[in-house]
Amino acid sequence: MTRKKLIAGNWKMNGSLEANGALVRALLAGLPAAGAAADAAVCVPAPYLAQVQQLAKGTALAIGAQDVSAQASGAFTGEVSAAMLRDFGARYAIVGHSERRQYHGETDAQVADKAKAALAAGITPIVCVGETLAEREAGQTEAVVKRQLAAVIHVNGHCISEIVVAYEPVWAIGTGKTATPEQAQQVHAVLRAQLHAASTHDDRVRILYGGSMNAANAATLLAQPDIDGGLIGGASLKAADFLQIIAAASAAAA
Ligand code: PGA
Repeated sequence: MTRKKLIAGNWKMNGSLEANGALVRALLAGLPAAGAAADAAVCVPAPYLAQVQQLAKGTALAIGAQDVSAQASGAFTGEVSAAMLRDFGARYAIVGHSERRQYHGETDAQVADKAKAALAAGITPIVCVGETLAEREAGQTEAVVKRQLAAVIHVNGHCISEIVVAYEPVWAIGTGKTATPEQAQQVHAVLRAQLHAASTHDDRVRILYGGSMNAANAATLLAQPDIDGGLIGGASLKAADFLQIIAAASAAAA
């Protein structure tokens, strides 16, 4: 089965009403030329979901959030539920980004619960996994990503056919150091095999690469057999660069 590639932007804590307006308008203007053979999405800070939903309504640009609460509702000050995200048209929610694991102490089990909450609301969780530099150097890369994904499989069972996975080596995020296509492919193949063992519909699950993917290196990464798209941080804030990555994904599908 050929999976439609997905290019998702992760704006992180960047943007303003004014900057978002300009960025989304430029993306929408360029999307038709970038090609429709790939799916495109932007994961925006929660306060801007309404704005971006309005701008992107009826277009091919999907919107997503960068986190979601594992809880459905109640006394959880500061949390945003999956149903709330859904109210504003979120199609995707990133869960378990390394910045949340690192700065907010999110555990594998919490990430799995967040994925479950998203799925229950009809939102596709983009589940991030990835090793630190120390873990890579200690030869633990496979063990770490498998442990992180196993927690999500354990809690979500057959529903994992509805998730998206993003392999994001922590040492490659925001550093300009990209995994080589071979390094990325090697880990993607491991994750693919793990999904295959867990689900009869694993061939639907897209495995994105993230970590300093940009307009210059996207095509070679996306040419790897098990790389089904990208989760793009820095380069998703520049319309021209993000569009070029979408175009590369579209071309890779052709
Ligand atoms: P980057 O971020 O593209 O800026 O490295 C990717 C991510 O953290 O999702």
